[in-house]
Amino acid sequence: MFVFFFACGVVVAGAGAVPRALISIEGLPGTQSSKEVDNVLFEWSDGGDTVALLASMDALLESADFSASLEMRNNAALAYLLAGETHVADVAFSGLARWCGWPDLSASSETSAEPSSCLAVFKNWCWALAARPQGGDHALWDAVRSLAVSSLETRSSSSALSVYDVGLAGGVCRHASISPSSPVCQGVPNGEIATRLTGDDLYLDLIRRSLTNYVHADFEDQEWGGCSSNSASTPVPIQCEQSWTVAWRSSGISGLASGEEGEEDERARRRYHTTLSVADLIHLELLVRDLFKNKIQGNLLEAGVFRGGACIFLRALLSVTPNESSRRVFVADSFAGIPSQRRSLPGMIEDPTETWTDRFSFGRDAVEYNFRRYGLLDERVTFVPGFFNESLPSLFARPLDGEAPKLALLRIDADAYDGVLDALTAAFPHLSPGGAVVIDDWHLTGARLAVHEYRKTYGITTPILPLPSDYVYTCTAPPLLSALDECQNKRHLFDVHNKHLITGIGQHAAYWRKPLEM
Ligand SMILES: *[C@@H]1O[C@H](CO)[C@@H](O)[C@H](O)[C@H]1NC(C)=O
Ligand SMILES: *[C@@H]1O[C@H](CO)[C@@H](O)[C@H](O)[C@H]1NC(C)=O
Repeated sequence: MFVFFFACGVVVAGAGAVPRALISIEGLPGTQSSKEVDNVLFEWSDGGDTVALLASMDALLESADFSASLEMRNNAALAYLLAGETHVADVAFSGLARWCGWPDLSASSETSAEPSSCLAVFKNWCWALAARPQGGDHALWDAVRSLAVSSLETRSSSSALSVYDVGLAGGVCRHASISPSSPVCQGVPNGEIATRLTGDDLYLDLIRRSLTNYVHADFEDQEWGGCSSNSASTPVPIQCEQSWTVAWRSSGISGLASGEEGEEDERARRRYHTTLSVADLIHLELLVRDLFKNKIQGNLLEAGVFRGGACIFLRALLSVTPNESSRRVFVADSFAGIPSQRRSLPGMIEDPTETWTDRFSFGRDAVEYNFRRYGLLDERVTFVPGFFNESLPSLFARPLDGEAPKLALLRIDADAYDGVLDALTAAFPHLSPGGAVVIDDWHLTGARLAVHEYRKTYGITTPILPLPSDYVYTCTAPPLLSALDECQNKRHLFDVHNKHLITGIGQHAAYWRKPLEM
């Protein structure tokens, strides 16, 4: 199974589409009744009768044989998700999740080996919900997320796969700069992890530590006892030191500031250069390396740069990939914050960014200053100032090195419907086939609607995949919450607290590929 699905991941990464043969359930081991499930699912196609499908799934789920193949069903449904058949996967996972949620069944001895697969089921369904065209039902998403959290507390992991285990998302957890084992009750984790890195890995690791302000920031909160403001000569007590993990993020969710309204002053005081998590930055590295490996032509553009950190990271990546010397980084931003809403959203839905008082405004001179501090401001960095609806069309109208600029990567961090749709409209046609789009704000309704609207207009069906960045969804075997609870020190209590905080924000980033044949 493992080989099969990693193969899927590679295909998703390389070609942007999974051939139908690869998601066929032919040849998978299974009982007669689980074959029936496969048939029901397989005959199902987008636009089919959801109620009828659920009814037949319910009937099958009640048969005892099915419980013996939960892992297989989960993995088969995941294949649909990876194939971009999100609706099929959504329905399949909803059935499996309902089975997992039945306490009588999941506790019974004959199925005792199976419920461990439920964590993967919950994770997969959460993503299928988040990928729904209307953005899913947040209350439902939250309920499934709670099931996933409680699975962490009570269930050991199994070889059932989640969408976070395959492809580039799975690669984040296997990255050399992240400790393979999870820190539990053992002082400060990962204190010597960088000593095992060399060359490019070591350089990029240090860049990530700098951009996310990990080098300087620690948890500060009197409520947690003793975690008070530090200075160079008096560091915070060891229990207040932050862990260097995929979930580390200097803004918003790592305890430094919640990111809520009214915290602009707090954000301004924090000198981090990016709001991205360590997982986001590692994913960006894996994605860009993958684009280069597959010879996807073009430059790297970010639309909505805030303090410039992601662009600085992209420029650093160009420094460690000398064969890519013709590529540039485009730094596109209004440098005046998110503009107020210009168009109304489909379905009379409100854009959540409209109520924000903080517009994430950051001047071009300040972004240039940040670039200079890393020694990375050169002619391969091109600033594209202005609102995307005006700045990007003129960027692509101007020849660069004799031809219209092409893109390999389009990273959109615009928060609002207008900005995301404007960036897609102007830049996507210039993305090379096989190129990647990263949407930073998948948890925001406006950003998500803009993506679905654009994809629908142009008939794009390549799968939308999640970026991992928190404890619950990242990696196959995150630390058990109950184990962390037993650690009697503040830092670990904070870690536990933080897990809930982090998973409360929804699936904040996603990516997809431009079809090769477009
Ligand atoms: C870089 O280019 C050289 C010469 O074309 C080639 O031999 C080498 O394999 C390339 N390296 C990578 C990492 O692509
Ligand atoms: C572009 O967007 C900005 C900000 O929303 C707006 O002020 C401007 O009128 C728009 N320009 C065009 C040509 O639509």
